[in-house]
Amino acid sequence: MRFVVAITGASGALYAQRLIDCLADGGHQADVVLSNHAHEVIAGEIGELRLPGNFTKHRDRSMQVPFASGSAPYDAMVVIPCSMGTLARIAYGYSDSAITRAADVFLKERRKLILVPRETPWNLVHARNTVTLIEAGATLIPAMPSFYGNPQTIGDLVDTLVARVLDHLGVEHDLIRRWKCGPAGES
Ligand SMILES: Cc1cc2nc3c(=O)[nH]c(=O)nc-3n(C[C@H](O)[C@H](O)[C@H](O)COP(=O)(O)O)c2cc1C
Repeated sequence: MRFVVAITGASGALYAQRLIDCLADGGHQADVVLSNHAHEVIAGEIGELRLPGNFTKHRDRSMQVPFASGSAPYDAMVVIPCSMGTLARIAYGYSDSAITRAADVFLKERRKLILVPRETPWNLVHARNTVTLIEAGATLIPAMPSFYGNPQTIGDLVDTLVARVLDHLGVEHDLIRRWKCGPAGES
């Protein structure tokens, strides 16, 4: 499968790195595009982003990217992590960068667009923009790791989130143990 992975200036560069590694391990292809502010956050959180050789990196400033057009065949786009600034620009159709244009294209083409927003607490603007995007067809997977699988490391926590993204991309993985209900009566 072929994906667009967009990384913006929200905290959570580890999520993006793990997703990229999993897609590469699964034999998938991705075009990766970083916002200007993403570089700053990546430098502070993980030093630098590692990209597999067959993944292409693009600049957010240029529209000379294949995924700026609806005619290019991609299966899905993920914005991970997604800043509230980028989320707002996508919600309001500001197609002024490769990332926001691509998101606009995926929505109009009715292709899967997954946003992984990271901010806390939320204000009303964040909440309203999120609703707008869900109404427009985007899938919102907030950067909220889970604890019920008894994660032991930061990597385990990251996997609880990336696993959900891969599930929604339709990419097989074994990052987490699936939730199983106990016998009747147990909670
Ligand atoms: C270290 C650092 C962490 C940040 N974390 C977040 C965050 O978690 N969520 C968010 O919405 N913005 C965060 N910001 C602010 C965004 O980077 C800023 O709003 C920027 O304009 C987003 O631009 P972009 O969406 O084009 O990447 C952070 C900025 C820095 C420097």
